[in-house]
Amino acid sequence: MPSQPGHNGWRKKTGGYEFWRKTLNSAKYVVAPMVDQSELAWRMLSRRYGAQLCYTPMLHASVFNRDQHYRNEALQSCPEDRPLPYKLDVREQAGCQLLTVHGRTKEQKGPKTGLANWKYIKAIRDNVKIPVFSNGNIQYLSDVTRCMQETGVDGVMIAEGNLHNPALFHGIDPPIWKMAEEYLELVDLYPCPLSFVRGHLFKLFHHGLVIHSDIRCMVGTGKSLDSLKLAVLKMKERCLNDMEKFRTCPEMFESKLPHPYWICQPYVRPSPEEAEENQKKREATKRPLDLLNIPADMIGMSKNKIKKKIKNPHKCFDGSKKTQYEKCESCQNPRGKKCAFGLCKKCCKNKTKTETLDCVGHGIYLKSKIEIQEQCDTKRKELDLLEHRLTSGSTYNAGHQEVKGHQEVKGQGHIPDHCDNFAGKNTEKEAMTECCEKEITEVT
Ligand SMILES: Cc1cc2nc3c(=O)[nH]c(=O)nc-3n(C[C@H](O)[C@H](O)[C@H](O)COP(=O)(O)O)c2cc1C
Ligand SMILES: [Zn+2]
Ligand SMILES: [Zn+2]
Repeated sequence: MPSQPGHNGWRKKTGGYEFWRKTLNSAKYVVAPMVDQSELAWRMLSRRYGAQLCYTPMLHASVFNRDQHYRNEALQSCPEDRPLPYKLDVREQAGCQLLTVHGRTKEQKGPKTGLANWKYIKAIRDNVKIPVFSNGNIQYLSDVTRCMQETGVDGVMIAEGNLHNPALFHGIDPPIWKMAEEYLELVDLYPCPLSFVRGHLFKLFHHGLVIHSDIRCMVGTGKSLDSLKLAVLKMKERCLNDMEKFRTCPEMFESKLPHPYWICQPYVRPSPEEAEENQKKREATKRPLDLLNIPADMIGMSKNKIKKKIKNPHKCFDGSKKTQYEKCESCQNPRGKKCAFGLCKKCCKNKTKTETLDCVGHGIYLKSKIEIQEQCDTKRKELDLLEHRLTSGSTYNAGHQEVKGHQEVKGQGHIPDHCDNFAGKNTEKEAMTECCEKEITEVT
């Protein structure tokens, strides 16, 4: 927990509730620390949609102390962000000012996650004098309200629910591509590793990727932010097309999900029993290594090596037999083993730059980059038209001409009743802010 620098040269703690009110502005809607997923761009998106306090990812205290680069990357922030740094150092928590209680036991993890138990949270709430946040199992805004009423906690912290619907605290379920597009715009402003972006798209698009597995592939293998943007545009295109079909034939999209796949919604984990069942099925289909029929030349090798050798019979594990380095076609350096042009990395960089080419072996995708940007531009134009056609149709308007975006889902009843009053507002944000302020005062 951060605290004020004190007169004794170390730290003077403000009392728990004072700290919460003054430093944390009485935040009650909290986004959890999430490794590789609570970077600045995501925190800014979550804040735009109602989060009042966001944690940084967990920081490793010892690396933090010794590595400047780690500090810069881990603590990337901006004036509107002011995150709560989360440091793994138990000693600092000795004078605890705020407690977040997770309502699951230590055994409830992975497939055995199951449901959090609010009774324990209430018991703790009733027995400490500092602010308490509850954590676990929040899927909708209604759960947040219910949790606060049932347990008496001061705030609610969410992780998975936020990843699947970053607008959860606003009580709305926006289209998945809209959240993805807004997030990618924020990544342009606040860059982060591509793997974080992939992680977010996998969560946001979870149900959509089950249906559109080619897009899963694009997200998984995309080598640049542009290629992930293209994947988002593709998803948007599929969603808009399916929304159009949905208008005339909703039966086509019947499923166990609470909403069609193009709407942000919680990922409901399989129950521990279902998870165990699925695990058994997976294990039954796994082929065990047949230890009795190992070819003579592989006897004595480790299991891993045998597996590799079966996959690739030419595999050679003897270091001394490795081929000598071949020279680059244009200089004396060793050439890249997989270089498309038989060059070293430096020469390959030069060639691909001057001639606008790709070299997969060297991970250079200049030609593709330009092609992808062109594809993005074309797709964007096409989709603007399609989106306009869909969202200005009478089913989507329902008398709320002023605010686009909101009304897209409005026609399908995904905007909660309390959020009905946005006609006449200048912007969607204005309408939502007012609506959500109302929500907050209602909760208090
Ligand atoms: C992707 C992901 C990353 C997480 N990373 C961290 C972490 O770095 N440190 C931590 O204490 N908890 C971490 N958690 C746990 C969450 O903070 C939270 O306690 C847990 O997910 C339960 O809340 P939920 O039911 O709202 O998901 C992570 C959770 C998720 C889903
Ligand atoms: Zn190359
Ligand atoms: Zn060279």
